[in-house]
Amino acid sequence: MVEPPLIRGIGLGKVYGNLVALDDADLSVRAGEVRALIGSNGAGKSTLIKILTGAVMPTAGSVEMAGEPVRLGSPPEMIRRGVACIYQHSNLAPAMPVLDNIFLGRQPTLGFGFVDRKRQRREARELMQRFAIDLDLDATVAALPTVKQKEVEILKALALDAKVILMDEPTGWLAAADVRKLHASIRALKARGVGIVYISHMLDEIFAVCDTMTVMRDGHVIAEVDVADMDRPRLVALMVGDDLAKSSAGASLAKRIPRGNGIVRLRCRGLGKRGLFRDISFDVNAGEIFCITGLIGSKRTELIRSLFGADRFDSGSVEFDGKPAVFRNPSQAIGASIGFVPEDRHRDGLMLGLSVAENLVMSALGRYRRFGLLDRRKMADASRRSVSSLDIQPPDGDKQVRLLSGGNQQKVLIGKWLSLSPRLIILDEPTVGVDVGAKAEIYAMLRAERDRGAAVLVVSSDIEEVMTIADRVAIMVAGKLTAVHDADKVTRAEIIRDIGESAA
Ligand SMILES: Nc1ncnc2c1ncn2[C@@H]1O[C@H](COP(=O)(O)OP(=O)(O)OP(=O)(O)O)[C@@H](O)[C@H]1O
Ligand SMILES: [Mg+2]
Repeated sequence: MVEPPLIRGIGLGKVYGNLVALDDADLSVRAGEVRALIGSNGAGKSTLIKILTGAVMPTAGSVEMAGEPVRLGSPPEMIRRGVACIYQHSNLAPAMPVLDNIFLGRQPTLGFGFVDRKRQRREARELMQRFAIDLDLDATVAALPTVKQKEVEILKALALDAKVILMDEPTGWLAAADVRKLHASIRALKARGVGIVYISHMLDEIFAVCDTMTVMRDGHVIAEVDVADMDRPRLVALMVGDDLAKSSAGASLAKRIPRGNGIVRLRCRGLGKRGLFRDISFDVNAGEIFCITGLIGSKRTELIRSLFGADRFDSGSVEFDGKPAVFRNPSQAIGASIGFVPEDRHRDGLMLGLSVAENLVMSALGRYRRFGLLDRRKMADASRRSVSSLDIQPPDGDKQVRLLSGGNQQKVLIGKWLSLSPRLIILDEPTVGVDVGAKAEIYAMLRAERDRGAAVLVVSSDIEEVMTIADRVAIMVAGKLTAVHDADKVTRAEIIRDIGESAA
């Protein structure tokens, strides 16, 4: 007899008001299996995972572990049964040391409520050895790079003796080398018989590390296949439909326009900030997409934040449209017609408790003021137009942004800035967590901005993305701009060599 799966969701459904987030979905994973869960933004992937962790109570269906039904909607029950989850936005306590995070909520005690730190330390060490993880147990989580934080989460899952680890976009902000490290940990887990569900929009990762895949669309499971029986073009077509698949494949063939229309919009000379970056000089012209790529930690975010007035620089000069420009704060930059799409949409970009429509028009409020009053109808019209042109799902301007899927939140954030038609738009990792279809849409939007004469400055670690959209590519290594290439004259391999990424 075949062993029953470690965990199995059967006919799962979830309805929110009149929205069917999930309908009759099945998902199972066996010991030693890495199952990809893929589909467009809003397809229902996270909802399905949250039902398996007990965080969301389904409106239909059941969950079994090793063939036995489990109680639904109870996170402690699922933890007890060995189901752990790693989310894209980490659930760690940033101010606490690694060791405390690993045992958070379930400290082994000495009786009388005293925590047995010695035993915790020993257990953690053993696990690290067994799974080839190397962490300083006394370091504060906030001080660790993102990939190390993911390792803390894995270690935490292992300390729970997890049999099943659900990973919801675990690699969102990881550099390629770190993704490989995470994949090595996954292989070690697999070899020990842990079952893994892996959600990602990065198809390369699916092919690199997964055995099987479950494909979702609009709340339904539409395919279950072995990775070996699937190739990339077919997968894209399956996820987003044939037409969009073709247009996204053609996206990189569009014409490159290095230096745009020849007019310098942003001129930076000798920018420096102690301990972060130094001697940075470059121009971004009107009518071009200028990408800065490099490894995570190369200080690109710090550089562009200081251009936008969110941080200061110590030396150097900036000109905007030929005039000296030093912005003391972001509102001055916005006043000068600069838009900024930040990396961390949860912290910096969106008002999660407000509606989609409110977020979309927020930065443009000045435009809707007449005689001191807000013209609500004009606002509603404008946001309706954005919702449809960005294909935000569900197309409901009244929905709270908090309730949108991750990728759709990102579309709202970008739409919010584009609605201002800025003269310069700066974007930091604009498509993290965005599905292949929406990526193609965002690229088309950025090209349209370029073609209407905006200067577009993009920071991206995704080389695929850079090769697709850039007119020029700048490389940043450890706080220095080391090269600027015309995108039509440089190869992917040259860029990888420039950023110092080992090809391993
Ligand atoms: N608490 C909630 N209330 C109302 N609607 C919700 C809630 N949570 C999720 N939804 C909706 O359910 C649908 C599925 O969302 P889910 O987060 O599962 O998508 P996803 O496949 O994980 O997408 P992404 O790739 O963008 O993360 C979306 O339309 C979302 O807006
Ligand atoms: Mg999700």
